[in-house]
Amino acid sequence: MIDSSDNRNALGRALFDRHGAKKMTQTNLWGGRFQKPPAEALKRFNDSISFDINLVEEDIAGSVAWAQALGRAHVITAAETEIILGALHEIQIEHRTSGFADFGNQEDVHSFVEARLAETIGPLAGRLHTGRSRNDQVATDLRLWLCQAVRTARNHTVDVAEVLAIHAQAEAGTPMPGYTHLQQAEVITFGHWCMAYVAMLMRDVDRFDSLLKRADECPLGSGALAGTPLDLDRHRLARALGFDRPTENSLDAVSDRDTAVEYLFAVTLLFGHMSRLAEDLIIYSTQEFGFVELPDEYATGSSRMPQKKNPDVLELVRGHAGRLIGELTGLLALLKGLPLAYNKDLQLDKEPLFRTAALLNDAMPALAGLLSGLKVHQEVMYEKASSDSLLATEISDSMAARGVPFREAHEIVSKRVAEAAKLKMSLRELGPSVAITERDLRALDVDLALSRKTSFGGSAPWRVRAAAKEAKTKIAVLRGAAQLVQDESRTAAQAPEAMRSGMDRADENSFSTEGGQTP
Ligand code: ARG
Repeated sequence: MIDSSDNRNALGRALFDRHGAKKMTQTNLWGGRFQKPPAEALKRFNDSISFDINLVEEDIAGSVAWAQALGRAHVITAAETEIILGALHEIQIEHRTSGFADFGNQEDVHSFVEARLAETIGPLAGRLHTGRSRNDQVATDLRLWLCQAVRTARNHTVDVAEVLAIHAQAEAGTPMPGYTHLQQAEVITFGHWCMAYVAMLMRDVDRFDSLLKRADECPLGSGALAGTPLDLDRHRLARALGFDRPTENSLDAVSDRDTAVEYLFAVTLLFGHMSRLAEDLIIYSTQEFGFVELPDEYATGSSRMPQKKNPDVLELVRGHAGRLIGELTGLLALLKGLPLAYNKDLQLDKEPLFRTAALLNDAMPALAGLLSGLKVHQEVMYEKASSDSLLATEISDSMAARGVPFREAHEIVSKRVAEAAKLKMSLRELGPSVAITERDLRALDVDLALSRKTSFGGSAPWRVRAAAKEAKTKIAVLRGAAQLVQDESRTAAQAPEAMRSGMDRADENSFSTEGGQTP
């Protein structure tokens, strides 16, 4: 179908020539009412093309679907539809191959694509805007972009979760100190620590998936704010763009940016989790702890101190987690006082979103790489995990198991701990007392302590191993689903398929040349 675009465009050019060539990219969209051209300073402040050109694929896909809908509604003829589709395809090819030489003096991506179209096919290009507005256009473009961005974020998250689950399985039985208040608390395993982050990441994946369900609505056909006077099937239009359904209220549709907020929130929370992981690893990789060592290729050196191995990747993750909170609150503040419906403030929604998507693309692979090359110093962790301060609770548990009320046991053991500290001895060296038996003291054993934490979700090595195995199975399923989602979404978010399938449909039925007529 794509091959025939040459013919279409020959037709388009002939039509254009009849109307006389004009450099349309130099005109602007709303000149009619104004006697003076826009001031340079206005343009510098107002124009968004420098960043919203990022939406050009989505804008073309939206225009393809709209042209087809206009054809079906007999607003344009089948032949005109073909010409518009062919020219849009050419613009897409231009974008993908050479890129655009310049944007003329166009304000934004929507006016640019339309002007580019006009350069190829002349005034027919102006018919494409029948019944639509840049307000429903930008809402649609952004929604298409966001759905793809959410899928990408989710897949990055699955990647990091997988690396952690692999570590968890391998280190399910590797004891390490567990902390509360960053004070040694109870023995856990390194695998259990990994699985804590897997749990957070799985919730993040779930958040991305559920937000995708809410986002799956097409604003196109909402017009500027009141809907469109054209008799067109918005359900079909939504499906043509790969959406599940059309939006329900035109006023809301052109001004709603909930998906953008939810995306920023989900990424901010993801980074909140990754920032905690980063902080743990920064601490664990210090000389003082020495639990882990960062892989050389994901660490940096110091220009002055030759012994340094710096955790820059982790620090940047932590830093960006803070900055993302700013992106999120910035967007929330942008939206909070806007009267219905569209306001130009909404133009400022895009840059934080683009920055966030770019950040994910850089940060998540770096983090996955760092984690997969992480060296775990099992012996150091084992030694630290064997300290009295971590195992004292085990003695209280042992006493409680033979009938001493736990509160009483706690009191006795804590006094014993203070005594041992005063004498600079370990609890074992101090030996049994009236209340603490030799048998209770045998509880001061790392492996024994670990093996007793058998509750579901606990740190007993067999539990951790089972949890890691289950997580890996879940991750494989999520990956399968990702594959499926990617394949399905291609028609929605990637213009070539949207166009190709659209053209196929046009040729099959809706745009038979006899049927379509301009009213
Ligand atoms: N560049 C605009 C934006 O990003 C497109 C919509 C313009 N609509 C308008 N009524 N001025 O929001």
